[in-house]
Amino acid sequence: MNILVIGSGGREHSILKKLSESKKVSRLYCLPGNAGTSELAENIGSQFMAQDKLIEFVKNNSIDLTVIGPEQPLIEGYADRFIKEGLNVFGPESKAAVIEGSKAFSKDLMHKYNIPTANYKNFTDYDQAKEYLSKQTVPIVIKVSGIAAGKGAIVCLTREEAEKTLKSMMVDKEFGEAGDEVVIEEFLTGEEASIFAVSDGNYYKILPTAQDHKAIFDGDKGPNTGGMGSYSPAPIINDELMEDIQKSIIAPTFDAMKSENRTYKGVLFVGLMITGEGPKVIEYNCRFGDPETQVILPKYDGDLAELLMEAATSKFTGNEILPAKNEHYLCLVLASGGYPSSYVKGYTIDGLDRRDENTSVIHAGTKVENEKIVTSGGRVLGIVSRGNTLKEAKERSYNFADQIKFKDKYCRNDIGDKGINRYDNK
Ligand code: AMP
Ligand code: GLY
Repeated sequence: MNILVIGSGGREHSILKKLSESKKVSRLYCLPGNAGTSELAENIGSQFMAQDKLIEFVKNNSIDLTVIGPEQPLIEGYADRFIKEGLNVFGPESKAAVIEGSKAFSKDLMHKYNIPTANYKNFTDYDQAKEYLSKQTVPIVIKVSGIAAGKGAIVCLTREEAEKTLKSMMVDKEFGEAGDEVVIEEFLTGEEASIFAVSDGNYYKILPTAQDHKAIFDGDKGPNTGGMGSYSPAPIINDELMEDIQKSIIAPTFDAMKSENRTYKGVLFVGLMITGEGPKVIEYNCRFGDPETQVILPKYDGDLAELLMEAATSKFTGNEILPAKNEHYLCLVLASGGYPSSYVKGYTIDGLDRRDENTSVIHAGTKVENEKIVTSGGRVLGIVSRGNTLKEAKERSYNFADQIKFKDKYCRNDIGDKGINRYDNK
């Protein structure tokens, strides 16, 4: 198989790494990719391609499968075009990708089909939203309905913060059009976990579970980011809970999408809060998570090329929990100081030539400039280690990360601790 992966982050580097381990793969391409993907695939172009040009490339280079990494092209309908051209694509059509593209849609879907989630109300009118907000208690969560790179959900601890947040979204348009509609929802307490279910339109297969670390500072403090680290498995999800999640969330979500004539094919990423009342959906995403992919794919004990091709061509024969390796995986994100606000790019990265059989370096915001690898994004690298325990994986990633140097390098110091405490207290 010749496979093209669209995207340029750690997620895409991880997908290519796993694909490169498949005996079924002959050539790999990445559009546009980063400095890491260029070691496994041919990076084509330095930017995104318009649909016509992309389809032409896919046809001319006998690409058997295109995997669309990020949400934006899915929401814009890139998969629809592939399907129209009779080309194999992994990723949902735009009418199904709306499950991430519009939080207002996904909340209404969950409400209609009794899928557990936080109580909420959607608003397109600022005055009505303000009026509603004045009657709510804090903490409360306010989210832009549209996509905002993981940064559009604000947990407001005080009334003042809530009022300020609502205004910034709906009046000052801090998130642009994404804030034309907002969701105001109940604050849930519990522990978060990420579930990834690959669907072929008829059946689903569940990949290993993961836990993300969304906030920028230790102890889950500060603004949300795309994700500062992850580990797999998520120890909070035991077999019994997974059974419950399938019955109350995964199966009903795919059924609901089918009933709405929005059959979902691709990976559905469900962000969960495990509350005292059971698992509730925090959000859906129409693609793999970043940095969750960096840990769930090495943990998955199977052939990714085969899995994604079977999903794209509707070859599943039943629902299944996919096999997983026994080891623990942890990804530590090294970011540019200043992220998720403003930061400087273009710093040289040193220490990348080190090799270790238990650790791999996944590139996110990197590029080659004057034959050197330099920083080119907020999240720069993911240091992914395996261990017999989560603690061992954590130690390996942190030790390795010490050797990697770039100006203003920033990482959290507590990636994995929540999981490690859970194992220690068992
Ligand atoms: P989202 O973009 O919807 O995934 O939200 C980003 C993050 O905000 C989540 O991972 C949670 O940490 C937090 N969050 C979102 N919604 C809620 C909620 N209803 N209750 C508590 N925390 C939430
Ligand atoms: N790590 C969360 C996301 O990919 O949206």
